[in-house]
Amino acid sequence: MLRGKHIILGICGGIAAYKSVSLLRLLVKAGAEVQVVITPAGKEFITPVTLSALSQKPVVSEFFTANTGEWHSHVDLGLWADCMVIAPATASSIAKMANGVADNMLITTYLSAKSPVFVAPAMDLDMMAHPSTRRNLDLLRSYGNHIIEPESGELASGLVGKGRMEEPEKIVEVLDRFFATREDLHGRKMLITAGPTHEKIDPVRFIGNYSSGKMGYAIAEAAAARGADVTLVSGPVSVQVSNPAINVVRVESAREMLSACEDTFPQCDIAIMCAAVADYAPESVATSKIKREHDEIPVIKLVKNPDIAATLGQEKKKDQILVGFALETDHELENAFDKLGRKNLDMIVLNSMRDAGAGFGVDTNKVTILTSDNRRLEFSLKPKTEVANDILDTILTLK
Ligand code: PMT
Repeated sequence: MLRGKHIILGICGGIAAYKSVSLLRLLVKAGAEVQVVITPAGKEFITPVTLSALSQKPVVSEFFTANTGEWHSHVDLGLWADCMVIAPATASSIAKMANGVADNMLITTYLSAKSPVFVAPAMDLDMMAHPSTRRNLDLLRSYGNHIIEPESGELASGLVGKGRMEEPEKIVEVLDRFFATREDLHGRKMLITAGPTHEKIDPVRFIGNYSSGKMGYAIAEAAAARGADVTLVSGPVSVQVSNPAINVVRVESAREMLSACEDTFPQCDIAIMCAAVADYAPESVATSKIKREHDEIPVIKLVKNPDIAATLGQEKKKDQILVGFALETDHELENAFDKLGRKNLDMIVLNSMRDAGAGFGVDTNKVTILTSDNRRLEFSLKPKTEVANDILDTILTLK
């Protein structure tokens, strides 16, 4: 899968830089065109001569070549790449990437990269475990970067623990798998809903829920990265899409979400209903702010909102796939099975508020997928970016 791919190999200053030579050799052997970008500290560990000999390209490290004044454009490099791999990524470079500290060519290239970015950290175990490193890695994850977790084992310090850069063969496998799955949704039109809905009470209040949009946005990003043509119907959230190809339709209420979904669904191959839609809305919206000074405590009469998933389930044609979510607090499997059948879904993704690290707001999720052909697949707790790909992989097994 790597044949002909343009890969930027970023090398930072750490002892694991010696492994970057093997990684470079493997990438070139697999047919990739590799441009090495190395930090000044990286050159203390490994020479550019070795790297340029293996990559058959001059190694880039400074913003311009000192003797000729030739400018190295990080923007052009960022556009050229099909992917960027930073291996080893040191704690300090990870911190710079997370916070946009563009003080060397590698970081400016990273900030300009339009392609997927893979980060293979390597450092001592205590640095790896430090909350600032964990937080910076979480930030990189939230930007959609792929973290290739380090292994546990003997470290350069002589200590034993988590921090060894993943082996070059494994990194190549990760990239290979990424490109293999990347285009498997090419040409598929997908509708994804995300976030909460807000049901207005008066001009300053609403009924809502804790959905952050992270799960739905992760699915939209993963589907777009795999070649799908994605429309994301989103309730009010603060997360943003990073892939400009995703068509985002912003809505506020369940009724607006239904209308946007009904516009898009007829042209879709696959729809995934990840939004946490309010089941009820106030019967009427007060035109002015409801005042506290009233003698009587106001009573808000609620009416049922439309069930968007069930509506699309009724409209679904034979060649369309409709996937729902079930967010449960008890009788999880029973309730999810019931929704699968009642809403005429092909698959339902169950997450439980009883599982730590799952559901609303967090960056991780733990899901069980039930399919209409009676399969039940259990997944471990993992980042929502990975859960998104598990969901898409399972959809591809449906028909
Ligand atoms: O956004 P995050 O913070 O990342 O959190 C993710 C999530 C917890 C919101 C997500 O993983 C999730 O579980 N989404 C569905 C939440 C939900 O409303 O579940 P439900 O069991 O109440 O609804 C079942 C299905 O019917 C869902 O697909 C829902 O989108 C849909 N539904 C529900 C009510 C309604 N009126 N219309 C609907 O379409």
